[in-house]
Amino acid sequence: MKKRTLIGPFKQIIPMSGMQLKGAIADQELEVIEDGGILIEDHLIIAVGNFKALAAEFPEVSTKVLNGNHVCVPGFIDAHTHICFGGSRAKDYAMRNAGKTYLEIAHSGGGIWDTVTQTRKASIEELTKSTIKRANRHLKNGTTTLEVKSGYGLTVSEELKMLRAIKLANDQALPELISTCLAAHMLPKDFKGSETEYLKEISEQLFPILKEEKLANRIDAFIEQSAFSADDIQGYFNKANELNFDITVHADQFTPGGSNVAVKFNAISADHLEASTDTEIAILANSNTIAVALPGASIGLGCNFTPARKLLDAGAALAIASDHNPGSAPMGDLLTQASILGTFEKLTNAEVLAGITFRAAAALKLKDRGKLEKGLLADLAVFHSDNYQDILYNQGNLKPCMVWKNGALVFDRHK
Ligand code: NIG
Ligand code: FE
Repeated sequence: MKKRTLIGPFKQIIPMSGMQLKGAIADQELEVIEDGGILIEDHLIIAVGNFKALAAEFPEVSTKVLNGNHVCVPGFIDAHTHICFGGSRAKDYAMRNAGKTYLEIAHSGGGIWDTVTQTRKASIEELTKSTIKRANRHLKNGTTTLEVKSGYGLTVSEELKMLRAIKLANDQALPELISTCLAAHMLPKDFKGSETEYLKEISEQLFPILKEEKLANRIDAFIEQSAFSADDIQGYFNKANELNFDITVHADQFTPGGSNVAVKFNAISADHLEASTDTEIAILANSNTIAVALPGASIGLGCNFTPARKLLDAGAALAIASDHNPGSAPMGDLLTQASILGTFEKLTNAEVLAGITFRAAAALKLKDRGKLEKGLLADLAVFHSDNYQDILYNQGNLKPCMVWKNGALVFDRHK
């Protein structure tokens, strides 16, 4: 006999149901279930509705009774992070704020390469442990699914070490981790050859092992003047397509161009987009590629935000992720960053919540989460409040009091 539990009553449940994947959303479109209950069975949601009506319909089930005012939203989905890394880049942050340029920082031993050096020095056990610790901190902030990239190894064996660490971390961490291979993060300084030679080596030697060991289904590349060009990446993405990997791109972070490549290769998502112009916005809006804003990188680097309002108004699907990494986005607080993006870009509550729930699920091609509906995973973030608007109004300072992952209460602030 499967175990059923009715959770509630919630002052409000925001199921995020019935909303379109693309374009602007008015707050009036947000369904609010007052005095709601959620019936779960094992890891799945069986029913969402009025608490008393559900209790009457299913009198035999056990009940998890909540006292006081609570609001329930789908567990958040952070579709872009780099939380598997060694060391720190606090020095970069201080130098940047003291006026040093990107190149000056890179030349003095900072930048992505510094993290590569430190990550290579870390053992797989150390990487696994620190990734679990960071993932569990995200869970306490309501994130029940996190994408995690490699990209600080930059050799076949070091990328494998990272991706195996992410897989091991996924076995033990509270949120689910979705891994992505970002071996195309930059041309490693110790590689003797060109960009295309490096990418050829990775695609020929690493891609088959990713399949064999089920280490990642997703291939990412940083398309930028300081990393790889549209020409460099062509053969790499062709190979990824041939092997049925999903493609995602670090696009238009400092200069436009990457989003065009993303759409050309039918990428699941194009992420960053701080430098996207009206041309790139139109290309993304007319595509199936999800646009992912990373306000944590704008806050970390002191750069402009992704033109989220324009993207939505043009009809794009907009997800919002933390980009949590040691360099450009050290904060790693999705709710705070999404709220702040909302204030600067004038996004409705519905648009921000969609960006960290069902639209983020689409950025990871996950159909089983991101909404509170029958048949989907029972991933819930619960806040002490009588009004869902408090969640973004508090700009990340209102933390969830309870989090359910796969139907299990994995975090309870009261305890
Ligand atoms: O998403 N843009 C490239 N990669 C990361 C930064 C990684 C780092 O600085 O370590 C990003 O911002
Ligand atoms: Fe990133």
